[in-house]
Parts: sequence; structure tokens; C-alpha cells
Amino acid sequence: MKIFAFANQKGGVGKTTTAVTLADGLARMKVKTLLVDLDPQGHLALSFGLEKSPGLYRLICLDEPLEKVAVRISANLDLLPGDKQTEKVKRQIAISDFREAILADILHEADYDAVLLDMAPSLDVLHINGLIAADWVVIPTRPDALALDGVKEILTTMAEINQNGHRYRGYSILPTFFDRTTRETFLQFQELAKTFGEHLWPPIPQDTRVRETVAYGKTLWDYSPNSVSMNGYKDGKQRLGGYKQVLARMLEVING
Ligand SMILES: Nc1ncnc2c1ncn2[C@@H]1O[C@H](COP(=O)(O)OP(=O)(O)O)[C@@H](O)[C@H]1O
Ligand SMILES: [Mg+2]
Repeated sequence: MKIFAFANQKGGVGKTTTAVTLADGLARMKVKTLLVDLDPQGHLALSFGLEKSPGLYRLICLDEPLEKVAVRISANLDLLPGDKQTEKVKRQIAISDFREAILADILHEADYDAVLLDMAPSLDVLHINGLIAADWVVIPTRPDALALDGVKEILTTMAEINQNGHRYRGYSILPTFFDRTTRETFLQFQELAKTFGEHLWPPIPQDTRVRETVAYGKTLWDYSPNSVSMNGYKDGKQRLGGYKQVLARMLEVING
């Protein structure tokens, strides 16, 4: 089993969209997948046309089993939803023994091939729990001048965690809101490539279909499977970026 955390202390960079799209993509490739909402905003449920609910709260504060609180979305996809009660989870964790590894302990027992954690844009005990549970951290980032700053913050936090004796975790930088017609985007992408080399994953194009899909309570795989955000830009016979390319990278991590 591989656990992925989608993390960036900045909001609105595409963490939730990316976690939803890739989780559904993995499930369609027959990878048994659990998607976990660690954000008190509870947006994951809405992405599937469901009501928010206190799944994480029931799991951690009420000690209910994961099998009972996870919601079946499709044959290979389960969702552990969240809502504002997730705030209480943070308080519970803060007063527990072994508080940094509570989530890791629960998830490592679970029967899935992949677990995707949608993190909140905050640096609290729940965020640390998510990072410690993760085998791989995906850092979605907008290609703008301030992006590098957010990426460096999260890498610093990861380095601190690694120093405290936890095992090494891999990471990838995922450029989102990529607009190939904008010179700024292009320059920032080059900068990211220079700084992060092979850690840089293919970019996700900016695409109005992405924003629409949430309103329909569907994922891009149903709503707009051939949109530019899914297939990337056409460049002669080649394709640049898109969620399908990123899904292939994730499968490499899972099988590698
Ligand atoms: N590639 C994209 N193109 C256009 N809009 C996007 C794209 N990715 C995300 N969005 C939209 O941007 C907003 C923020 O995305 P979200 O995934 O919620 O970010 P985060 O979880 O980091 O706060 C949402 O309204 C979402 O629909
Ligand atoms: Mg989010």
C-alpha cells in the first residue's frame, strides 16, 4: 500500500481537485483506493455530489472502525469524508499519546492499494499526522512567482519530520493552473524544472471544465474525460501534461 499526501499551505492551488481526479483515476485502473478528507471544509464529499459528514471525527474521536465510516463511491473507491467536526479531531490528537502517528497507525492497517490524503492549508497536528503517514507527498503549486516559497515551506517541514527518525518519503511537485499562452507560466515552469529536476511532474492545464465539474457532483472522468486538463496540450503528436500523464506517474510510485 502507498499513502499519498496532497499538501501545500497555500489554498486554491488545486489540492482537492487533484486528489479527487487521481483517486477516481486509480480506482478506474482497478487500484483499490481510499480518499481521506483532512480539511474541515469537507469539500471532498461535495466533489462526489454527497453531503459533508463527520467521517474523520467518528474514526478518531469515536473510535469507530474505518470499514464503517468510509463511504463507498464506486467499485474500487471509498471516501472518508470530513466536515467542521474535523476541528475536534485536532484537539483529540493534541492530547493523545503517540499523537503524531495516530493517522499512520490506522491507515497502515487498512486494506487498500492506495490512500490519498487531501490536506488542509494549515500547519497543525493533523497536517503533521498526514505527512508522517505519507509515503509520497505531492505538492500542487501554481506557476507564479510566489509558488516556490510555498513549496520550500512544505519541503522544510518534511525535512524536519525526516530528521526526527521517521522514514524517508518521496515527493513530487505538480504545477497546476498551467497556461501555456502566458509567458509568466512558462518562465516559472522552467524555474521549477531547474530547481526540482526529476521531482517535477507534468503540469495540469488551466481549464474551465475543472471548475464546472464540482457543480455537477462528478469527477472529470465522467464529466469531461477528454478535456485539456485530462489530456494535456497537443504538441504535434506529443501531449504535454494533464491528469492522465500524472496518473501514470502515480502508478509508477505504487508499483515501484
Ligand atoms: N486546472 C484547473 N483549471 C481551472 N480551475 C481549476 C483547476 N484546478 C482547480 N481549479 C479550481 O480552482 C479552485 C481551487 O481548487 P481546489 O482544488 O479546491 O484547491 P485547494 O484544495 O488547493 O484549495 C476550485 O474552484 C477548482 O475547481
Ligand atoms: Mg482543498
